[in-house]
Amino acid sequence: MTNHWLRYLKSEKNILPTTASPSSHWTPLREIEPNLLLKLEFDNPGASHKVRAARHIVRCAVQAGHIVPGLTTVIEKTGGNFGFGLVLACSEIGVSVELAVGLSFSPLKRHFLELSGAKLIGIDQLRAGSTPREVVEWHLANAGRLGKSYFYTDQFNNPKNIEAHEYETGAEIAQQLKDLDNIKNISFVSCAGTGAHLTGITRALLSAGYTVDVTLVEPTGCDSRNSIFVEHKFEGMAVGVKPPLLDWDLVSDTVHIDHASMLATKQRIAATQGYIVGNTSAACLAAASALTVQLPKSHKVLTIAYDHGLWYA
Ligand SMILES: Cc1ncc(COP(=O)(O)O)c(C=O)c1O
Repeated sequence: MTNHWLRYLKSEKNILPTTASPSSHWTPLREIEPNLLLKLEFDNPGASHKVRAARHIVRCAVQAGHIVPGLTTVIEKTGGNFGFGLVLACSEIGVSVELAVGLSFSPLKRHFLELSGAKLIGIDQLRAGSTPREVVEWHLANAGRLGKSYFYTDQFNNPKNIEAHEYETGAEIAQQLKDLDNIKNISFVSCAGTGAHLTGITRALLSAGYTVDVTLVEPTGCDSRNSIFVEHKFEGMAVGVKPPLLDWDLVSDTVHIDHASMLATKQRIAATQGYIVGNTSAACLAAASALTVQLPKSHKVLTIAYDHGLWYA
């Protein structure tokens, strides 16, 4: 079953290049409604944008000698999507992966992470109230006793996470925009967990010469800039820490989306496009649709289909 799942993930699209050169591995960019561009990141191996960051971080760590196949175990805290990326990047080089996944995250994702070969660590610690970060810290502190040589990919503080999206996702989008007629302005509607893809994609579009304004989407009641968080079901955004890799200078507006609007958009996109998008994607699409009216031909609204919706109840 494990091998079957990995074969399935790898069969659709193989490992992407780290720089944008036209490739069949690129995820599609589609104008799904007038003026609304959607980058289908669920079409990546691992089924989300996070595989790009995981792959780049692992490759760089191998190159730098921080990951030694056969010796090193990669460790991370993740809601799941980054974990799928790590499993893919590490399985290629025979490196094991240990993940601390919060118990409130999608049970289906947790199950598939285990099927794909990741070891989910610290279940008892999490049940006793530890955070995934504390679980990782405990394992790092006790590595000797556990007989492990860990490499912590540290997606929340690793600048390679931004690089992956600047030189890969964002560069890819910039190239794809060239195929559309004379686009000059982009309104990028995005969310933030680590903040890496927002920062990376925006920087890439700016470097490519587009005028970009960025709207940050947050669940109603959250204010990441001021570290205010409430419980919500938009797994991946507003995760309880101020996004450390988000360049706030790039954000020009913030829009709050409630659960009902997110669900209504999810249903609308399923009915009209046939895509069952995840909750963060649906929240961004809800905000993005509202911005598409009365734009000149040279101006498009861009958002991301981060992952599939079937994970989430
Ligand atoms: C489904 C989903 N949406 C959005 C995000 C936010 O991405 P980033 O960490 O690049 O801010 C994540 C991150 O894990 C995610 O899994």
